[in-house]
Amino acid sequence: MAADGASVGLVGLGTMGRGLAHALTRAGLRVAAFEPLAGGGAAPDGVTVYGDLPAMAAALRPPRRVLLMVTAGAPVDAMIAALAPALAPGDIVIDGGNAHFRDTERRAAELAPRGIRYLGVGVSGGERGARAGASVMAGGPAEAFAAARDVLEAIAASDEAGRCCAHLGPGGAGHFIKMVHNGIEYAMLQAIGEAWLALRRLTGQDDAAIAATFRDWNEGALGAYLLDIAATVLETTDPQTGFPILDVIDDAAGQTGTGRWLVTEAMELGVPVPTIAEAVAARSLSAMTEARAALEQAAPGTGRRKSLPAAAFRDALLGSVIVSYAQGFAVIRAAAGRYGWPVAEETVATLWRKGCIIQSRLLPRIAAAYRHDPDLPILLLDDGLRDLLRGAERGWRRAVGAALEGGLPLPAMGSALAWYDALRGGRLWTALTQAQRDLFGAHTYARTDRPGRFHTDWPDGE
Ligand code: 6PG
Repeated sequence: MAADGASVGLVGLGTMGRGLAHALTRAGLRVAAFEPLAGGGAAPDGVTVYGDLPAMAAALRPPRRVLLMVTAGAPVDAMIAALAPALAPGDIVIDGGNAHFRDTERRAAELAPRGIRYLGVGVSGGERGARAGASVMAGGPAEAFAAARDVLEAIAASDEAGRCCAHLGPGGAGHFIKMVHNGIEYAMLQAIGEAWLALRRLTGQDDAAIAATFRDWNEGALGAYLLDIAATVLETTDPQTGFPILDVIDDAAGQTGTGRWLVTEAMELGVPVPTIAEAVAARSLSAMTEARAALEQAAPGTGRRKSLPAAAFRDALLGSVIVSYAQGFAVIRAAAGRYGWPVAEETVATLWRKGCIIQSRLLPRIAAAYRHDPDLPILLLDDGLRDLLRGAERGWRRAVGAALEGGLPLPAMGSALAWYDALRGGRLWTALTQAQRDLFGAHTYARTDRPGRFHTDWPDGE
């Protein structure tokens, strides 16, 4: 055992791993890294690279803390199987990838008989965040978090309010919250994409003008990292052709699964997340390249294009982003209740203020809303956010209306408005649905005027 050994082991020196290695060494931690393909680029100062796991483990000071930055899924299981024999009771394995929270709970249970502690930690911020400071969402035993805190804080973004790093609960709580983060990320990306398309088609702005519009919006309530980088993309020229970069990027999206997982889990919890679900669907739809090409020929989109001021789309984007956060936080609330996690929404919003992909000027407002009322059943009940929505409503409605009329799909913006309208719309269509269910399946219904379940002897519909 290396009592004076390195303070943290790092498995995986890919883009994220390398960035995190820089952050760890900058914080004064000595890193022992494992990389079987060592030689793929010089290791940062303060990092010793080992080509085999037992050698890396032997170089660590006990209790060993080993941060895994490997591709989510089977590679994590394979790495744990290879690493575990080199570890001892009390050691801590930290999975910093985008694992499914149920996999995290299974892995923790598998390692428990050996006395190895397991932390599932969502790390957001991409390559830049890894180097400059990420948003760190930890889950697992509180005492393991305490024992690994210096490592996790070393990779976290910071500001005058402290580090963007917190322990969110036991088991898979950290990876669950990261999954929600990613769902919101999907919805924000989709809504920004829709704003770009609508500005192009319904305001006559070209990409240079849209970049300037985005930069202008970014100064206000909508200020967000994703809006800022959208403007940067719009200002970028393809070095190979000299065309605007967006003209040469294929119109089919990829996805690695976290958005889909979130929608599945939300459905399971009975929490509607239509805007996030539309964003996931939009990616799948974009990848239906053959069907899209055939339909574009057979039934090209039509519709009268009504021109609108750009501000209507700013309002639509603001409304949609607030709704995306509200849907995500509703899932967190339901999961905390279902799994008994002590997650405080204020902590999550505070954690996301910097470092992560969905950081925005709205998050401090959201944190304040939950600070003011930790039991807020839905974010839209906060006075400040409700005022913002009220201010955006007219433009948002005009934007969605004009797009519908003009045959322009805005699934995130439209579904966000429908969700907002449905939640505050009083009695909706449900009585008819309940009655029909009772007629064809004797499912029974509740009444407005007395307790209990009821069945009507419906007239025969034949
Ligand atoms: C982050 C990102 C990052 C990545 C996700 C989603 O927080 O740094 O969320 O984890 O964006 O893997 O990726 P896909 O868009 O490929 O699903």
